[in-house]
Amino acid sequence: MLESESKAVHSEARPYEPAKAAVFRRLTAGAIKRRKTKQLFPIVTAYDAPFARFAEEAGIDVILVGDSLGNVVLGYDETTPVTLEQMIHHAQAVVRGTTRAHVIVDMPFGTYQVSDEEALRSAIRLVKEGGACSVKLEGGVHESDRVRAIARAGIPVVGHIGVTPQTAGLGPGYKMRTHRDRLLADAHAIESAGAYAIVLEVVDAEISREITQTLAIPTIGIGSGPHCDAQVLVLHDLLGIYAHSPSFVRRYAELGRAATEALREYADDVREKRFPSPLP
Ligand code: KIV
Repeated sequence: MLESESKAVHSEARPYEPAKAAVFRRLTAGAIKRRKTKQLFPIVTAYDAPFARFAEEAGIDVILVGDSLGNVVLGYDETTPVTLEQMIHHAQAVVRGTTRAHVIVDMPFGTYQVSDEEALRSAIRLVKEGGACSVKLEGGVHESDRVRAIARAGIPVVGHIGVTPQTAGLGPGYKMRTHRDRLLADAHAIESAGAYAIVLEVVDAEISREITQTLAIPTIGIGSGPHCDAQVLVLHDLLGIYAHSPSFVRRYAELGRAATEALREYADDVREKRFPSPLP
């Protein structure tokens, strides 16, 4: 985080905070927005305190508590069943595990679509109870009123277009999005509604480039080519924990395999009486 980007945003301890620093200095949404064209930046998802801390220690200062939680942690096939309570629970852990990172928290399916009021109420809970620095919701032109309602209340919002996993399984699927005019209209509607950044998921690389060049807010790519202002990956994909990673993922480790091997060794040691060691 650049020194100029840090700003005290939490001036009092929250009920769920452990007894550590009372004043947290976190990267602001405004600072992230100003990175546009100046600094390519990495984002990763996290769902618990230790991995959020690892990310922060690795110099990643924007962390997304994605509703991919449903797939990679909770064992669902989709993100659709994830609840607001689950997002709050995991957001709290990520906030506790970090001190300076900006924590974006996903609004799960069914918590913002019905009305502006419900969307705002859900976003307020994510900030007030979950400790979110900003929230993210899926959808383009049709969800732009929700973005506007939340942003007007002072809560920074990230948009998310292209493949939108909450509804992908209900019809459109996960294939590459190539409808240029619709994608551009969605991106511009979300920007005009007040979002400070936008995720482009599995959008054709040339269309991503055009969107990135024509928006004033940063684009955050996932499976959308190299032209976005930032890249995001799901932690369990990049660390090799989740078995069903999409083809665009680069696996930087095979922690799933390492964990299985360690557990097998432990189990063998117990069976063969090699663990525990005799007391000295
Ligand atoms: O839920 C999530 O992890 C996401 C990313 C794929 C952008 O929305």
